Amino acid sequence: MIKKIAILTSGGDAPGMNSAISALVDTAISKGLEPYLVYEGYKGLTQGNFKKVSKHDVKLISPLGGTAIYSARFPEFADVEVRKKALEKMHNEGIDALVVIGGDGSYMGASKLTEMGIKTIGLPGTIDNDISSTDLTIGFQTALNTLVEAIDKIRDTAESHERAIIVEAMGRYCGDLAINAAIATNAEVLSVPERKLEESEIISKIQEARDHKNRSIIIVVTEEMYDVNALAKKVQAETGIDTRANIIGHMQRGGSPIAQDRILASQMGAYAIERLMDGENGVAVNIVDNKLNTKNILDVVKMERASKDKLLNEYDLTK
Ligand code: ADP
Ligand code: F6P
Ligand code: MG
Repeated sequence: MIKKIAILTSGGDAPGMNSAISALVDTAISKGLEPYLVYEGYKGLTQGNFKKVSKHDVKLISPLGGTAIYSARFPEFADVEVRKKALEKMHNEGIDALVVIGGDGSYMGASKLTEMGIKTIGLPGTIDNDISSTDLTIGFQTALNTLVEAIDKIRDTAESHERAIIVEAMGRYCGDLAINAAIATNAEVLSVPERKLEESEIISKIQEARDHKNRSIIIVVTEEMYDVNALAKKVQAETGIDTRANIIGHMQRGGSPIAQDRILASQMGAYAIERLMDGENGVAVNIVDNKLNTKNILDVVKMERASKDKLLNEYDLTK
């Protein structure tokens, strides 16, 4: 039987992580467990940086952006000797289960702890929506709204100045933020890792959009694909169209979570405690067709992404 349960957030912070923490603590206490919060992800776990909490400690954190228990990129955790230290700190405190809220990297850390005897469960927390087993990750919908708001503003100035503006979205190797933002803003051109355009193709699509009398032209791309500032200069040199680039960056990670992310995170948090108490271990929580489920965490990390062809084909993003 589980008695003491620790909760951590790891990897890139995502809006809604706080609602997950709040629901996890609330449900754990209601079920007679003792919840502990770990500060700064796996780094804090290794240092024994955790604290037992009450419902009141987390009651008001849901509307806050970021993660109230902080996060860390801590590559040292891939080293088994470092993980042994974390295990020792948990054993000293009598903690027997761990909830990890994070992305695929964080899930790898959790699966390794499972192999070492700690009961773990993962909650998908990342703005990238790059966990294949779930339709939605906590934070994606808020980040998407932030990106859409930014592009709407960029559209205003692009239209006023008859410009093309390249917008670089986050997402690491996943195009979900860029694709959905492009649909929501009626962008003229889209290039994502799942369907990458050559620079020459982007330039001809921009020219085509201008030929079709678009005064403003918005080009949405995922990060790491191009040097967008250099690309903007190239577009301008080859087409004569006044062109700029905007890297939206970390503002996509911040801000108060929208209601949908708070609700998703709360549902997932409560469900995770129930699954753990039912004896599940080494699994991750997912939402598929509006229904929660769990899957082996290692299978989740290895799972192939579903094809986005249908969505990409449905929306012809070159007007
Ligand atoms: P995300 O969880 O958002 O994908 P990262 O890829 O940065 O973010 O992973 C978060 C953290 O998870 C890392 O900083 C590290 O502490 C841990 N982690 C990632 N990969 C591994 C691994 N192979 N083994 C153990 N821990 C890992
Ligand atoms: O995983 C979330 C994310 O914001 C990605 O979209 C991006 O590639 C990465 O994290 C940036 O990480 P960092 O803030 O550590 O540079
Ligand atoms: Mg990741």
